[in-house]
Amino acid sequence: MPSRVNPRQRVLSGMRPTGRLHLGNFVGALDNWVRMQDQYECFFFVADWHALTTDYAATAQIKENSMEVVLDWLAAGLDPARCVMFVQSHVPQHAELHLLLSMITPLGWLERVPTYKEQRENIAEKDLGTYGFLGYPVLQSADILIYKGDVVPVGEDQVPHVELTREIARRFNMFYADAHSPIFPEPQPLLTHAPKLPGTDGRKMSKSYGNTILLTDPEPAVRQKLKTMVTDPARVRRTDPGEPDVCPVGDLHKIFSDGDTMLRVYEGCRSAGIGCIECKGWAADALVSILSPMQERRKKYEDNPRLAWDILEAGSARARKIASSTMDHVRQAMGMSLEYERPDADGAGR
Ligand code: TRP
Ligand code: SF4
Repeated sequence: MPSRVNPRQRVLSGMRPTGRLHLGNFVGALDNWVRMQDQYECFFFVADWHALTTDYAATAQIKENSMEVVLDWLAAGLDPARCVMFVQSHVPQHAELHLLLSMITPLGWLERVPTYKEQRENIAEKDLGTYGFLGYPVLQSADILIYKGDVVPVGEDQVPHVELTREIARRFNMFYADAHSPIFPEPQPLLTHAPKLPGTDGRKMSKSYGNTILLTDPEPAVRQKLKTMVTDPARVRRTDPGEPDVCPVGDLHKIFSDGDTMLRVYEGCRSAGIGCIECKGWAADALVSILSPMQERRKKYEDNPRLAWDILEAGSARARKIASSTMDHVRQAMGMSLEYERPDADGAGR
């Protein structure tokens, strides 16, 4: 197999420290990361500096949220023996590369990033008219390029940021590298094909909507949340037939239930042979069977937080080593090496 001959491709991705993760985060990203561990050389980090670009006025939660995110990663099956997990701010080289890349990034490229305008308009309660917020995609480019990442698994909203990273890499190489030996490879976005995961209110599951099911929700909470979940609005009475394809609970079944259960759902719903309460019970069963092994794994780290800290510390140290070697290379290419030609003791160079 070629992967034995060539070094494995390097995967790099980050997540903001939003606190405990929900099923949408799992289906949309984390589940993919877990599966990529064997095929690629993987680097996953908590983007705590990125949190500052929007939450600079309220930083109290960032540390705790970072730890919660990492506990959920470990719970979901990210394995420190098979991937490198670290915290962005523990690798200060990201900031140095961000500074250098900011020098060559045209303002227009940043103003054109779709999330920039969107978020400035949509997040009205925060003043996002800052230098840091505009430069956010440059920081993201530094995150990726400092590890010379080949593949960046992201959701659709992040693809323009990876495209920008490619353009910045190209511009850097053009200024500072020989055409035949570029310093930065151009990373490929790997779009995560996330099925649509509805929250309890039927809208996309999202922390800001308050409609989430957390990876840490205990069984009774999962069952309770399912009970309140919206269903096919046409199915008013128990005797009305329904349609799983227009029902958020049906969507959950499609993602998490086995074939037999699916058959019983389609059959029973369309013929009014089952009630929504029964159907939701089956969906809850499927969720619980996915969540309980995660919660079991998480417990080990919750009972002994040192374990998780040690994993992050070791991961950050490995990341720093690579990042620092990239920076040596970058400084050299830019003529900014830390080494000076020292004149001889008598002041006369030879
Ligand atoms: N911006 C990403 C998000 O909000 C998080 C992120 C930061 C990231 N740096 C990254 C993702 C580098 C991929 C690669 O989801
Ligand atoms: Fe939705 Fe299931 Fe009720 Fe059909 S039976 S409407 S799929 S909850």
